[in-house]
Amino acid sequence: MTGLVNLLARPLLFTLDPEKAHGMTIAALKNLPVPQTGAHDPVLAVVCFGLHFSAPLGMAPGFDKGGEVPDPLMRLGFSHVEVGTITPLPQPGNPKPRLFRLVEDDAVINRFGFNSEGHDVVYARLTERKGRGGIVGVNVGANKESEDRAGDYAKGIRAFVDVADYFTINISSPNTPGLRDLQQASALDALLARSLDVREEMAATYGRKPVLLKIAPDLTAGDLDDVVRVARDRKVDGMIVGNTTITRPDSLKSGQKGEAGGLSGKPLFDLSTKMLAATYQRVEGQFPLIGVGGIQDAQTALTKIEAGACLLQVYSALVYEGPGLVGAVHRGLAQELKRRGTTLAQITGSRAKELAAGF
Ligand SMILES: Cc1cc2nc3c(=O)[nH]c(=O)nc-3n(C[C@H](O)[C@H](O)[C@H](O)COP(=O)(O)O)c2cc1C
Repeated sequence: MTGLVNLLARPLLFTLDPEKAHGMTIAALKNLPVPQTGAHDPVLAVVCFGLHFSAPLGMAPGFDKGGEVPDPLMRLGFSHVEVGTITPLPQPGNPKPRLFRLVEDDAVINRFGFNSEGHDVVYARLTERKGRGGIVGVNVGANKESEDRAGDYAKGIRAFVDVADYFTINISSPNTPGLRDLQQASALDALLARSLDVREEMAATYGRKPVLLKIAPDLTAGDLDDVVRVARDRKVDGMIVGNTTITRPDSLKSGQKGEAGGLSGKPLFDLSTKMLAATYQRVEGQFPLIGVGGIQDAQTALTKIEAGACLLQVYSALVYEGPGLVGAVHRGLAQELKRRGTTLAQITGSRAKELAAGF
């Protein structure tokens, strides 16, 4: 394990171009033995959208876009891995460079633009690991040149139904022009109707796979009202709040803050947590939420749960903290739950009102 941790450690990787460093990390996870970390403390177990998770923290999509390393990631201690975003046809994404470390800010900017190997390649990989257990979500997207973007999401559900434990409909990437327009009420309603129809059609054979919706942290209160109304009417199984932001908080110091793309990591925490709490208030318990954006330790993880998250995901902090972060978050959460004599379910949303203030 030490060798792997060292290989994934900041001093070496930070001398490399960020996209190359990411490729090396995936290769290391694929080719080096990753020993299983200890079992999760039973106090961390949680049930969300009908699935039993042994702990809340999962790997956010974007890290393993091609479904190459879900099993090594779960051995590092993640309770689930969301692979993707995957588009129906292969596409290269935006020109490089398209990934930037904002070291002074503990943040990342990316403008990958859905680089994807496409459904067939990723499906073959996930088929190969079938039966290994663990919870693998499949995050589906649309091709840039597609004439029917809404249809691409339905295609994704059909393609991966026998290998996905749940699906995420990602309409919130800022890097595909026009994609976030799919969050507008009438477009969203049509898209969800088509995706959920496919899910129902496949349910008798493959089971009724949960379908979640991932939103941007940049929605206005009015936009969020519409999105939640449509999601509730269409009975989605959950929402993920949220994706990267196109805003640039004044606090940013790094020279690369002006790069175009989505910002993630520490400076996203306040915005995404406020949006999570505001979403929790609007959902009124109709379905659970996954909290993502700026988690970097047990305290920020706890705040996401108190804002309304049933489950958590992280990406950017791993770049800065390394894989030890996963165990540290889970240990810290377990300790705090025991100290308070409470459960994750009991504290979910307990501070939503306060944390949504000013949204
Ligand atoms: C390099 C990079 C690539 C990403 N790619 C995707 C993606 O393909 N699909 C998606 O839904 N989110 C993607 N995300 C967003 C993350 O899943 C997550 O929502 C966001 O980074 C906020 O979490 P964090 O602050 O812990 O990084 C990406 C993020 C980063 C940093």
